[in-house]
Amino acid sequence: MVYLKNNLTPSKMNHTICYLSSAAGNLPDHELKQLFKKTQSRNIDQEISGILLFYYGNFLQVLEGDKDRLHPLFDIIKKDNRHKNIITIFNKQNEGRTFAGYKSGFSIVKTSSDLKNLNVYLNNNKDKTPLSSSVLSLLEPFLI
Ligand SMILES: Cc1cc2nc3c(=O)[nH]c(=O)nc-3n(C[C@H](O)[C@H](O)[C@H](O)COP(=O)(O)O)c2cc1C
Repeated sequence: MVYLKNNLTPSKMNHTICYLSSAAGNLPDHELKQLFKKTQSRNIDQEISGILLFYYGNFLQVLEGDKDRLHPLFDIIKKDNRHKNIITIFNKQNEGRTFAGYKSGFSIVKTSSDLKNLNVYLNNNKDKTPLSSSVLSLLEPFLI
């Protein structure tokens, strides 16, 4: 049985969903802040790890956790009118979690310093799960 950091419960069948999308219309700062706050606290409560990155009007989200939690959540997220052009990059079973040991398990990445920290973490944890290095490659365009 694999035990995760950050007091996340034992993981039998971890699942990872990753997608890209673009913010719809003009998302005012206060709405974005509210979205980030709710997303982070709900995901931590639900033992969902990952990141929500917002950069130049685009979202990149990685969600890791129990499949039975992630799939209904992703259905809700896909219908959210605050973003559009959702491209699913992967939606698959994964061994372990890339982000369980990063910050509080689920973090918001919105400044260049958040991005730099994340890049360092991912570079140091390239072999953490089979998808870690794929996530790192996805970050590359945001790091330019
Ligand atoms: C880009 C984006 C990512 C989101 N990610 C999450 C998430 O990871 N977890 C979550 O609970 N809600 C997330 N949401 C919000 C959900 O789509 C939805 O609004 C929320 O779960 C339902 O909240 P309510 O029950 O208060 O209406 C996201 C929304 C957007 C636009």
